[in-house]
Amino acid sequence: RIRSIIRGVGSYLPAKILTNQDLAKIVDTSDEWIQQRVGIKERHIAAEGEFTSDLAVAAARQALDNAGLEIADIDLIIVATTTPDFTFPSAATLVQMKLGMHHGFAFDIQAVCSGFVYAVTTADSYIKNNLARRVLVIGAETFSRLLDWTDRTTCVLFGDGAGAVVLERADLAEGEPDRGVLASALRSDGRHWDKLYVDGGPSTTGTTGHVHMQGPEVFRHAVGKITDVVYATLEQTGFTVADLDWFVPHQANRRIIDGAGAKLGLPPEKVVVTVDRHANTSAASVPLALSAAVADGRIKTGDLVMLEAMGGGFTWGASLIRW
Ligand code: ACO
Repeated sequence: RIRSIIRGVGSYLPAKILTNQDLAKIVDTSDEWIQQRVGIKERHIAAEGEFTSDLAVAAARQALDNAGLEIADIDLIIVATTTPDFTFPSAATLVQMKLGMHHGFAFDIQAVCSGFVYAVTTADSYIKNNLARRVLVIGAETFSRLLDWTDRTTCVLFGDGAGAVVLERADLAEGEPDRGVLASALRSDGRHWDKLYVDGGPSTTGTTGHVHMQGPEVFRHAVGKITDVVYATLEQTGFTVADLDWFVPHQANRRIIDGAGAKLGLPPEKVVVTVDRHANTSAASVPLALSAAVADGRIKTGDLVMLEAMGGGFTWGASLIRW
């Protein structure tokens, strides 16, 4: 059996922290409103001249260190991002260059907040199909650059950051317990495109554009779609919600996380939450939460971990990993 195991994890957050109190000086909002509605206290914001590929490189270096590997050991880089440095080339090829990797291949995945789960699933497929042995999977965003800082309904929700994992091929012997990526499920439904989108792009306006969101509509769809795809992932394996050690959801919003956890019947202590400190970092949110829970010793070898995300498109997906 070929399996993709997690060999290392890493993360990076820009130094600058923007608190709710800071935001209240820019738009008509309050710490109380933001904490009550979405559970966010602060977020990190990339410095001028600090680009998505820089955040990705910092997270990747930490993941390589954590894995005890060098860039020479990697043969594929996948970057999940909605905020690449340039329209092209991909952020992944810039990361490849900055890490000094001149072999293998690199590409981006665009599934907004679901990007990291899409990227893990893609990397797993490449490994299982002999196209790669070790894959650097990165979620990196400078989402602050897509925000209209006069729109209080969106600018309070997002932040910048990056997280990374090294996925490695393992050939499990007969009788050896299963581990690594056990199952995944991906979904999308483009009919919902305008519920959460950026009103710019190279083929439409020629500008970068800003985030627009029908917040209550997104909320209405989120919990049901998340729980459906979690069950679709579990069903492939025979495991149930009760078998999960950790639930690492996309960190959009505390109420969505709590709603999904409650609908699944998960005890809150099994749910990893970083949205209070990071806000919604889109494709970076799941690997940032994962890194936090690995670094503080919560996620340990042998644990059964469910990753889940949902975002613009809509896109959504889940991945079940035996650590
Ligand atoms: N501060 C103060 N007041 C605000 C703010 C703010 N930052 N933003 C909106 N309001 C006001 C509105 O203007 C409105 O005022 P009005 O009644 O005078 O018109 C009032 O608060 C209520 O607005 P609603 O949009 O109805 O508020 P709601 O309770 O639905 O909460 C929210 C809005 C938090 C965005 C909610 O809809 C939500 O959580 N949606 C999910 C969105 C999300 O998480 N998106 C992340 C990306 S999607 C993903 O990754 C899954």
